[in-house]
Amino acid sequence: MQLNQARILLTGASGGLGQELARQLAAAGAALLLTGRDSSRLTGIVPAGSGEVEFVEANLDDPQGIATLVAAARRFRVDVLINNAGVGCFGLLEEQSWPDIGQVLKTNLESPLRLTHALLPWLTTQPQAAIVTVGSTFGSLPFPGFAAYSAAKAGLRGFSQALRRELADSPVAVIHVAPRAIDTPLNSRAVNALNRELGNRSDSPADVARQIVAALQASDRERHFGFPERLFAWLNGVAPRLIDQALAGKLATIKKHASSL
Ligand SMILES: NC(=O)c1ccc[n+]([C@@H]2O[C@H](COP(=O)([O-])OP(=O)(O)OC[C@H]3O[C@@H](n4cnc5c(N)ncnc54)[C@H](OP(=O)(O)O)[C@@H]3O)[C@@H](O)[C@H]2O)c1
Repeated sequence: MQLNQARILLTGASGGLGQELARQLAAAGAALLLTGRDSSRLTGIVPAGSGEVEFVEANLDDPQGIATLVAAARRFRVDVLINNAGVGCFGLLEEQSWPDIGQVLKTNLESPLRLTHALLPWLTTQPQAAIVTVGSTFGSLPFPGFAAYSAAKAGLRGFSQALRRELADSPVAVIHVAPRAIDTPLNSRAVNALNRELGNRSDSPADVARQIVAALQASDRERHFGFPERLFAWLNGVAPRLIDQALAGKLATIKKHASSL
């Protein structure tokens, strides 16, 4: 996809990854419609004079927020939707409250589905269009301490693959990207401490944004970031028992950090 002709709706634009994505997409010449729940956090992300940039404040978890976004996207003549907004949720399932679990499922799975569903009639009328979903390594390598988050991201991956196949005879490409840990405010202090102790690598938002921009330019179907994470995700698909055993050895460490919350 030629980014200097793309008109992109980016959710989660005020977040750690979203801000970087916005800057890099603007630098590549894309017209941007940036969204988050607080418009004061959206202004100033992209340097003045970077081309066409508009803002729309909306809560993705509220049906009215979805309606606001769809109206703004049609006005802006969006042809790329990047479902990037998300929330984290670290802890042992039995110690988490249902409102927290429900929130993760809603923001990370239901809301991107709802927004995609509502915008699809518009996107299918465009000569060329793309939907990008930002998943996670945990979508294909579900991890203890992240049961709800892993479920939501695995769901988002399944949704993206099914929709891509459903839209194979349409002008709409569906691209799924799955980063490993990123240095952003999504990760609590406990998650950062856990990653340090387990030796899990964390990427900069700039590096991850560069890979997402490259995936969009190349119209890649699916990109999983990081090694050995890609290998372990593959192994989890073909021999999950090996991953069960490997993660059982890390369970005490995971529980220690989960109980420090
Ligand atoms: N950080 C990681 O380690 C990591 C790893 C793999 C994948 N990811 C994925 O990368 C994506 C971006 O995450 P991030 O690391 O940049 O997180 P972040 O810094 O916490 O940013 C999250 C963004 O989501 C928005 N958001 C959350 N709930 C929303 C709602 N109900 N309605 C509208 N917007 C909402 C926030 O906007 P407000 O301004 O409204 O709060 C913010 O812009 C997420 O999908 C995340 O799951 C992150």
